[in-house]
Amino acid sequence: MIEDAAITSQILDDIAAEVRMCTLCPLAKARTKAVPGEGAAGARIMFIGEGPGEQEDRQGRPFVGPAGQFLEQLLRRVGLEREEVFITNIVKCRPPGNREPMPDEVAACKPYLDGQIAAIWPSVICLLGKPATMTVLGIGEPMGKIHGQIVERDGVKYVPLYHPAAALHQASLAPVLLADITRLKPLLTSQS
Ligand code: URA
Ligand code: SF4
Repeated sequence: MIEDAAITSQILDDIAAEVRMCTLCPLAKARTKAVPGEGAAGARIMFIGEGPGEQEDRQGRPFVGPAGQFLEQLLRRVGLEREEVFITNIVKCRPPGNREPMPDEVAACKPYLDGQIAAIWPSVICLLGKPATMTVLGIGEPMGKIHGQIVERDGVKYVPLYHPAAALHQASLAPVLLADITRLKPLLTSQS
């Protein structure tokens, strides 16, 4: 097990190093720092967002701005620490003005995300918002319809969730997001 974790860490470090030097799509030009993602190599749960925002671009770390602080609070409420999950995005460089990433940017960046998922191979993958859900599952239905529903593929449970930024802007979504995350906790303990 220790060796597995060491190999996973090495793969994740290699991916992160590639991301930091990457110029495969136009987002490379405007970025301050690329944001590969971070967390435990042995994480049983992974969170995938849309793309770095202003704070993330400045610090080179995912979900460190307001949406990230809110996500951390939600995790704590269900007894999870940020350090024990893995957090990343579908694109690793900030789209200017926080616009949605373009299809060609998502496609260029996807191998990094696929590599991270394959290396960690968690039990549960949370897809934060519509772009992450569309990119990973190819499901483009409204979040209002699919949030919290488990989609099992190759033994991994994928769960579309409202993006924490959406729940910050629309307060009524916050309890829904919390309830969805709360229901994930038993899925983790039963498999590990
Ligand atoms: N929103 C995202 O989708 N990702 C981040 O890393 C921060 C905010
Ligand atoms: Fe490379 Fe992804 Fe950044 Fe585009 S967004 S430059 S593909 S790391």
